[in-house]
Amino acid sequence: MTDPLVVFTPSGKRGRFPVGTPVLTAARQLGVDLDSVCGGRGICSKCQVQPGQGEFPKFGITVTGDALSAFNSVEARYDEKRGLKPGRRLGCQATIQGDVLIDVPAESQLHRQVIRKDASSAPMRMDPATRLHFVTVEQPDMDAPTGDAERLRTALRDQWDLDGVTIPLPVLQELQTVLRKGDWQATVAVNHDEGILAAIWPGLREAPALGLAIDLGSTTIAAHLCDLATGEVRASGGAMNPQIRFGEDLMSRVSYAMMNPGGSDEMTAAVRLALDELARTLSDEAGTDPSEIVETVVVCNPVMHHLLLGIDPTELGQAPFALATSDALRLGAAEIGLISAAPGARAYLLPCIAGHVGADAAAVTLAQAPDEAEEMTLIVDVGTNAEIVLGNRNGLLACSSPTGPAFEGAQISAGQRAAPGAIERVRIDPETKEPRFRVIGCDAWSDEPGFDVEVTGICGSGIIEAVAEMRMAGLLDASGLIGSAEATGTERCILEGRTHSYRLWADGDREIRVTQGDIRAIQLAKSALYAGARLLMDEAGVETLDRVTLAGAFGAHISPLHAMVLGMIPDAPLDKVTSAGNAAGHGARMALCDRSARHRVETLVRKIRKVETAVAPRFQEHFVAANAIPHASAAFPHLLA
Ligand code: FES
Repeated sequence: MTDPLVVFTPSGKRGRFPVGTPVLTAARQLGVDLDSVCGGRGICSKCQVQPGQGEFPKFGITVTGDALSAFNSVEARYDEKRGLKPGRRLGCQATIQGDVLIDVPAESQLHRQVIRKDASSAPMRMDPATRLHFVTVEQPDMDAPTGDAERLRTALRDQWDLDGVTIPLPVLQELQTVLRKGDWQATVAVNHDEGILAAIWPGLREAPALGLAIDLGSTTIAAHLCDLATGEVRASGGAMNPQIRFGEDLMSRVSYAMMNPGGSDEMTAAVRLALDELARTLSDEAGTDPSEIVETVVVCNPVMHHLLLGIDPTELGQAPFALATSDALRLGAAEIGLISAAPGARAYLLPCIAGHVGADAAAVTLAQAPDEAEEMTLIVDVGTNAEIVLGNRNGLLACSSPTGPAFEGAQISAGQRAAPGAIERVRIDPETKEPRFRVIGCDAWSDEPGFDVEVTGICGSGIIEAVAEMRMAGLLDASGLIGSAEATGTERCILEGRTHSYRLWADGDREIRVTQGDIRAIQLAKSALYAGARLLMDEAGVETLDRVTLAGAFGAHISPLHAMVLGMIPDAPLDKVTSAGNAAGHGARMALCDRSARHRVETLVRKIRKVETAVAPRFQEHFVAANAIPHASAAFPHLLA
């Protein structure tokens, strides 16, 4: 008699197994993705499956009622205590009795795909580096004396096929207490990427392990606290980068390190403290303890990368802009300041692309996957330093361009960060030259009922729209010069010294004006951005773009139309200019939740060709020509369409 046929869905994997084989064993032998934390002891419930009934012509089987064994006492106990969903069985307890079709529900799959609602980034696949394993450890024996760590390693080898797991000192320090507290049973978090034990808890741990994905920017730090079993974000938040007090932009921080003995260390200490504080804040919000964090992934630009690691960034301030290392790094989380995380928690830093194109650009590229597309795609991560990637499946180029802080509201007379009270949207009537605007924290426009908010300044997206609208309303000429009241026909254009300003808002003696200096600052920033993109297009030998993706927290708020009117980006079909939101943060989450994403990004960065803007003569030419609004010579056919 032939053995029963077992078919697993959705994978379609099938095989014949002797009667009495546990479903979990059959799944493992066929390579079916079926989770298990307790190793088949019937206590974790991760291995739940749903047996089918009836005829399945597609698979050539008919399933009768006794295709699986009846509930055993372990399942019955579990069902009584926690309740199994109708029809569900524990895969480690149910055994095969006849031909059977077994569905593995999504929540029982370890490597499931999580599709983001925001379809602008690649779907998230779950295959976390750090996984939980329940183990039973032999008790010590006077006649065969071995250490607790050695017996734990033996248990991991015998029960989980994990050989040679390293137990770092911080975990070793708590090992004896934990094993005895759990009566020689424990749950361990093992980082499979490195073969290191990251944490240990007494007995069976039912709560998932947590991971922290960090996007460390020069102005803000954004982080997501994630469930490493499901990828669910348990809490998200941000904090200002405290290094701002040492310098607004990257180069001023490099200068601070160069000019002040111990300056680099000061900045390192400040950012590490901020990361640990953020980990504690997010854990509080999620109702957990930061010691539940077993792994963190960090993406950042090269200067932040060096300062986080305690490496003096001086070399990044001068040609040839050599990095201490561009490789991905695997470290103890405590080494980069996350001292509140689990004692053995690990940290993964994505690789840098080169010079000033960092791990954040690598993360954006990972998340957007332009290397898998036919379309010629330009990705711009707009920040104090714009990081730009261009290409498609045939190759990728990258550069960074020194846009300065104007796009973030700095160097603008009434500029401020994007916070409540900041003007973020502007429209100017081309006939009357009258403005209307919207302010962060209020949904109504300034000329609508319900507009009731204190105006405090103008943020990056606001100033971009203001300048573009001024150009479209004829208040500015192509060279960026603001016209006089007579020339423009509005009293809002006010003479200030030898130039003019445009009064956007006034309330009593408080005013917000767009000054000639503001226009110049935006022109410099946008010229740098455009020139960087154009330089990459020259290098790639392309004249047109199929798609433009604006990344970064700021990129998410830029209006594509206004960016193009201003000439920030080269011409592209307007409906193909989209925002990817915080793509670097998404890339960090991908690397946190999916080991293969780490391998992908490490391979990807080796294939990206870096173009250095600082030494390319063409960059200067493009920069000068891009000073006009939108440009001295380049055509913008999609703008006219
Ligand atoms: Fe843990 Fe089945 S593997 S309950």
